[in-house]
Amino acid sequence: MSDPRPASRPSPGPDLRIQAKELDREDELAVKRAEFVLDDTVYLDGNSLGALPAHVPDRVADVINRQWGRLRIRSWGESEWWTAPERIGDRVAPLVGAAPGQIVVGDSTSVNVFKALVAAVRLVRGEGDGGGSGGGDGSGGGPRVERDEIIVDATTFPTDGYIAQSAARLTGCRLTPLTPAEVPTALGPRTAAVLLNHADYRTGRLHDLPGLTAAVHAAGALAVWDLCHTAGALPVGLDEHGVDLAVGCTYKYLNGGPGSPAYLYVRRELQDRFDSPLPGWNSHAEPFGMRPEFEAADGVLRGRVGTPDILSMLALEAALDVWDGVSMDAVRAKSLALTDFFLRCVAAYVPEGLVESLTPDAHAERGSQVALRCEGAGDVMQRLIERGVVGDFRAPDVLRFGFTPLYVSFADAERAARVLAEVLES
Ligand SMILES: Cc1ncc(COP(=O)(O)O)c(C=O)c1O
Repeated sequence: MSDPRPASRPSPGPDLRIQAKELDREDELAVKRAEFVLDDTVYLDGNSLGALPAHVPDRVADVINRQWGRLRIRSWGESEWWTAPERIGDRVAPLVGAAPGQIVVGDSTSVNVFKALVAAVRLVRGEGDGGGSGGGDGSGGGPRVERDEIIVDATTFPTDGYIAQSAARLTGCRLTPLTPAEVPTALGPRTAAVLLNHADYRTGRLHDLPGLTAAVHAAGALAVWDLCHTAGALPVGLDEHGVDLAVGCTYKYLNGGPGSPAYLYVRRELQDRFDSPLPGWNSHAEPFGMRPEFEAADGVLRGRVGTPDILSMLALEAALDVWDGVSMDAVRAKSLALTDFFLRCVAAYVPEGLVESLTPDAHAERGSQVALRCEGAGDVMQRLIERGVVGDFRAPDVLRFGFTPLYVSFADAERAARVLAEVLES
């Protein structure tokens, strides 16, 4: 007869803790952690605000005390403030797989979404260059079909959706919200531009940037990608995959600081036809000519608008030093190992049925965050934070844990899962 007592489950704790230590010992990026200001909290919110690189305060102090305080207006030239947007754009470029001369830093992601999306519609309609330019117009040589549809990721972070609505109104387009998976079959001869997120901000799902960009191009439209949740977390390959326009923030995995400026990528071949809906004196061919007529600057400079926010921008420039010598492939490998390990720890520690993972199992579909759905998620996250595990909560019921490979350890992942189990069981 079998023993009616429930078999006691051996605690997985010591085993997973030992494994975490081993993984940390083998981690080639582990040395990077010392370059950041961190304490003994487990910081899993770098997908919202990256941690402070330790050398940034001194660099910003120099910008304030010497460049601003002593050189004052001379710094626009002598400290190279004026050229910061394109110079720092060239520092971001290799991190997203772009050759130099295609990225300017400035403004917020929201503003850059607006520039990119309206410009994409204008480009594909050939406004200003005497003919359609985004590919076939689907008319097979017959009468020209006006491209009057913008497709937007229906699961997008809200700002992209709001701005797409406004961009559609301004350009006389119809707005079609669709999930990224629905996009290929919905594309048609009237589609002008498609705005997509590389990774879903809520679930962390990674979308197929190469495949979707190719599908958009095959339909004769242009693709605009929001890279907020992938730049600095995994290889993006903008040039390799023929992305037309892209935007992203720098305060998440790029650790640029709260509200640090965003960036705009314009593929080189599109730059001379890029017609910004926000032409400012900084995008003028001769900014100090003070002429009433607008004449766009050459190249990606036409993505600039007004005076750059120098303090934030130079804090970002300093922060980007942490990437020197770092391979994005190593970052991706560690990111996947971390999220795999965290999910294993959650499965081992958290009693079944208390959380549901929204994070895809397949590596090809996973960004650098784990999203867990659970009851009372807002309250659970509050209690996690009180116990030194900082992630965040997205309404209505999602716990988000961001894994920044440059400073999150496997021990952090194990501790976060263990504390989560304690909170959920208490
Ligand atoms: C995908 C995505 N796009 C845009 C934004 C917001 O951009 P902004 O910097 O304009 O606030 C966020 C903010 O978290 C985001 O996650």
